[in-house]
Amino acid sequence: MPTVDISSANGKDFAGDALIVPVFSGRERHRLPLSVSKVARAVMDEQDFKADYQELVPLHHPNGVKGARWMILVGLGDEEQVTLNKIRKAVGTAARHCLKKGWKDIGVLAPSTVSLDHDAVQIAATEGALLADYEFTAFKGAKPEAKKFRNVEVFTNGDDTRKARRHLPIIQAGVTACHRVRELSSTPAGHLYPETFAVEAQKLAKQHKLHCEVLDEKALAEGGFRSVLAVGQGSSKGPRVVKLEYKPKDAKRHIVLVGKGVCFDSGGLSLKDASSMETMKDDMTGAAIVLATLVAAAQVEAPVRITGLMGLVENMPDGNSYRPGDVLHSRSGKTVEVLNTDAEGRLVLSDLLHWASEMGADHVVDLATLTGAALIALGDGVNAVMGTDQKLVERLIQAGGTTGEHIWQLPLVEEYRDLLKSPLADLKNITGIRWGGTITAGLFLREFVGNASWAHVDLAGCWSSKERDYRPFGPSGEGPRFLLDWLVD
Ligand code: BES
Ligand code: ZN
Ligand code: ZN
Repeated sequence: MPTVDISSANGKDFAGDALIVPVFSGRERHRLPLSVSKVARAVMDEQDFKADYQELVPLHHPNGVKGARWMILVGLGDEEQVTLNKIRKAVGTAARHCLKKGWKDIGVLAPSTVSLDHDAVQIAATEGALLADYEFTAFKGAKPEAKKFRNVEVFTNGDDTRKARRHLPIIQAGVTACHRVRELSSTPAGHLYPETFAVEAQKLAKQHKLHCEVLDEKALAEGGFRSVLAVGQGSSKGPRVVKLEYKPKDAKRHIVLVGKGVCFDSGGLSLKDASSMETMKDDMTGAAIVLATLVAAAQVEAPVRITGLMGLVENMPDGNSYRPGDVLHSRSGKTVEVLNTDAEGRLVLSDLLHWASEMGADHVVDLATLTGAALIALGDGVNAVMGTDQKLVERLIQAGGTTGEHIWQLPLVEEYRDLLKSPLADLKNITGIRWGGTITAGLFLREFVGNASWAHVDLAGCWSSKERDYRPFGPSGEGPRFLLDWLVD
């Protein structure tokens, strides 16, 4: 993490590598500091830059030898249409440009807007730059040093910066957590499997004074986690369940976060095709989010007690694999007929949600890369949410809006519950029809949460098929920031 400062200076004297200047289209550029507006006006008058949203124009030494070496003009579009998310993303796009150039000392001029709160604008601009500051080189042969920023200075041209500065630890913890999720989800399954994931959790728990308990196969058998064990039994890498606890004094609320941690999802005997398997090392993103969020909550001393449960398994085809047709006696006592071993996430979660429901927590939220259907429904930029507690669902959607991590609710349609009936067992793990797959997966999970106030997030937005704004190609790292927004509240 670079050093970060937010000051009310105007950036004129900033002698770093690049000053990022977000600009509105139209005539609002007169509100820019003079040293910047002269330059911006010149390129705009010559029609080379219209300041359309995300439009980028890098200018070399625009003010002679004084100030930053580069000024990056980035468009925000029409001021009437501006949102915090657009500011975050426009700054992120410019910051990714700087990062790739290897520039280290970066300034950002927070735009002055009529409609948005100054503090929130400053926070969004800071987040945009920091979220973009990510490169993962651990798996490059030559081990090049990752391109990272050294200093990020945010300038507000006279606006009060106290509130944004006070918010800085939350920004930093959220960004660190986002990057942690990206790294964990990028790490190949040959390196990150249940055992090594659990070791990573133990290491972080120790660093951040979290209580950590790892259930190995023996403990899982004793604890009745038969569905977890069934999913994992085809792999030479045994399953683990990790329980992490953050317990501040005087906490008035207890939240349980549950994460799907399928370290690799081959589909098992219901084997996926080759291309569908390419990204399945990221099927543990839910568990990574839980781990990263607990660390972040501890860093910012969130005022709630949080328990994190991570269900870590590898879903593989093998002579010892669980089979289509097998009936599992889940931890809850409900029996499940497995008709497709690729619908494994809901089986892992069923045991963990049942455990969570026994804890008498105020809220239970699970996070899972559960269905391809969520991607079909919402694309890879929006996560799906469902739940038994509408207030909780709405709070998460609101947190997604605040942090720019989109979440959209799908209904738990009662009529679809019948599709999960099995002639043999209490439930089957698939409906046998493709339609509404995200909803029917949600209905399956609901069978195991008892009376808890529960929400389920299907993480369609966890993998970006291309680089965009502050997000690199690959894992987006979404999750901890919207959770943190809710947890610190
Ligand atoms: N991990 C996948 C879901 C997934 C697929 C996430 C693609 C992201 C991208 C999950 O375990 C799975 O395979 N689900 C099946 C369920 C089906 C068999 C009912 C799916 O979505 O096809
Ligand atoms: Zn699967
Ligand atoms: Zn899966």
